[in-house]
Amino acid sequence: MKTKIWHITKENEIQTYLEAAKLLQAGEAVAFPTETVYGIGADATNEQAVAKIYEAKGRPADNPLIVHIADQSQVHEFVKEVPDNAKKLMHTFWPGPLTIILPLRTGRLAANVTAGLDSVGVRMPEHPVALGLLAVAGIPVAAPSANRSGKPSPTSGEHVEEDLSGRIAGIVFGGKTGVGLESTVIDCTLEMPAILRPGGVSQEAIEAVIGPVISEAKEVAQQEAPKAPGMKYTHYAPKAPVAIIEGDAAFFQQQIDLAEKNGEIVGVLVSDELEAQLRKSEYMMGLGSKAYPEETAYRLYDRLRHFDHTLVTLIYAEPFAKIGIGEAVMNRLEKAAGGHYIRQSEER
Ligand code: TXA
Ligand code: MG
Repeated sequence: MKTKIWHITKENEIQTYLEAAKLLQAGEAVAFPTETVYGIGADATNEQAVAKIYEAKGRPADNPLIVHIADQSQVHEFVKEVPDNAKKLMHTFWPGPLTIILPLRTGRLAANVTAGLDSVGVRMPEHPVALGLLAVAGIPVAAPSANRSGKPSPTSGEHVEEDLSGRIAGIVFGGKTGVGLESTVIDCTLEMPAILRPGGVSQEAIEAVIGPVISEAKEVAQQEAPKAPGMKYTHYAPKAPVAIIEGDAAFFQQQIDLAEKNGEIVGVLVSDELEAQLRKSEYMMGLGSKAYPEETAYRLYDRLRHFDHTLVTLIYAEPFAKIGIGEAVMNRLEKAAGGHYIRQSEER
């Protein structure tokens, strides 16, 4: 399949939306930027169209998709009811990086969107290109992140091309994304809402609006099946294995030296502060200052992907504080590492 590429400019904006929307309406899969990561969209009411997403990504069939809308009122087309908590969240955070799980109104969406569940995840994105395309298409659009299943999500059109060129009908290039990590997923079908995936909206910000919520990511024991089906799969992983090194700068340097002595080529993923304390190396990638966790979130996937184009055989990363967006950063980093930590305290 030849993948049609558009580069959005002020001049061709409307024309691009019209062409891309036409493909979506015709049941094709088209990738586009959102303020979190790039998504690959298809008509959420068309089962064959949605099947093309699973096919292109190589995504397991039991992992449901998020439905994207351009206007809050569209929710009622396919949602049975909107609980008060959810109304408050929509009012405060939409458009924005928050996906809300709501009770499904049966018969309105293709069954493979929700993977057979009686709930549906809904999001109104904040990116002007996403909103423009969704508004012109006029249909609810199912859209997971536009990466091959298991890889880090795409934060640029080039990342999408790398993974999906030849596998989908089109890619709308609209520059870099904003947050750089996926939306927060919150289940509002429960008495006490639960965060299933930390993301662009922090738990602190949510609790300021609706009071205490459960955090699945923090509280669910590893052996229990996660409630967001997607969270059980290997995710966000570059080709080389990742380990998180917990300790001081001397310990971090010692781990690099040890690995190199064993013939490894070590990619290093650290804050500016730690970078300044380590010996310079060709494969050191900065994640920005610890004072700006938003910058770390924004860079993470790009840096993880970058290592796939180098010779590194092992990646050592620094842990960041699990506060605000840092919660989502560490969630992704721990998944990329498969939970593998090397801790100074245990070494002593
Ligand atoms: O920021 C984002 O959310 C991006 C952009 C493109 O909007 N999309 C995205 O989609 O990250 P995806 O498919 O990569 O992740 C969706 C997550 C998965 O973990 C999935 O299991 C969960 O949301 N999910 C979707 N519908 C659900 C439902 N009804 N119940 C529980 N979890 C659900
Ligand atoms: Mg994804």
